[in-house]
Amino acid sequence: YDYDLLVVGSANADLVIGVEQRPAAGETVLGSDLAVHPGGKGANQAVAAARLGARTALLARVGDDAHGRLLLDSQRDAGVDTAGVLVGGAPTGVALITVDPSGDNSIVVSLGANARLAPEDVRAAAGLLGASRVVSTQLEIPLESVVEVAKVVRDLPEGTTRLVLNPSPPQPLPEEVLAACDPLIVNEHEARVIAGDDLGDSPEDWARALLALGPRSVVVTLGAEGALVASAEGSVRVPAVKVEAVDTTGAGDAFTAALAWKLGQGESPADAAAYAARVGAVAVTRAGAQASFPTAEEVAAL
Ligand code: RIB
Ligand code: NA
Repeated sequence: YDYDLLVVGSANADLVIGVEQRPAAGETVLGSDLAVHPGGKGANQAVAAARLGARTALLARVGDDAHGRLLLDSQRDAGVDTAGVLVGGAPTGVALITVDPSGDNSIVVSLGANARLAPEDVRAAAGLLGASRVVSTQLEIPLESVVEVAKVVRDLPEGTTRLVLNPSPPQPLPEEVLAACDPLIVNEHEARVIAGDDLGDSPEDWARALLALGPRSVVVTLGAEGALVASAEGSVRVPAVKVEAVDTTGAGDAFTAALAWKLGQGESPADAAAYAARVGAVAVTRAGAQASFPTAEEVAAL
């Protein structure tokens, strides 16, 4: 393998303003000075994995503009191979983010160039997918491109490349995508969009409902309650790591990247999720998305 992890996904410039209270409809509030951070769920995952020590590549599309250069610089500084980052076609994606004093955020994403990462771009990178132990993707790129990722992975010799999907922002998924996921990583809201509202009462019930849709394994993230890792063999709970939240932006991406990488290294799902929970915990204690992701040493020191 050339790569431990290939991320196929979005890259956004995060325009962040701190606020006392996030505005309601029709309301205007004053906030902090503007901060511009490299973000996007795909780009975040790639930086998170590379910073932990994974050999990482990114397949994404940015605009030929200052935001695109910010994102490419951030990837390269972290050691991500950016040969698969396509440039042009539309402005770089932007996320408008407000963060309140408890570290919670509200995000609006303008996809821009991310919406032009086409199925043909994925097909053209099939060699890259086959040269990676794990491919991780999300839903800030066209669903047809995610379908293409699933098809390329499925058509590789059995056991070549593992697909990890965090369906965020969520939408119902075709069977061929669900069947390729190992694991599908969701929070409660994403689980409901994908499996419908009568999921059952407990996270164990939700996981069973999701597994019935075809993924080989499921990870349900439960915020302060940690996570649940489930497959046909059963399920196990992984506790959360308690920290003081400063900015939760991107912490889920760091969790997913760490989990995907560790699974590819042959760790058990429970051990991989426990490690990922520590990575996510460090990320919430610092501002920004990519800027907040830890090195392996910092995770060990937690
Ligand atoms: O998951 C966090 C990310 O969501 C932000 O970096 C923002 O760009 C949006 O994609
Ligand atoms: Na953060």
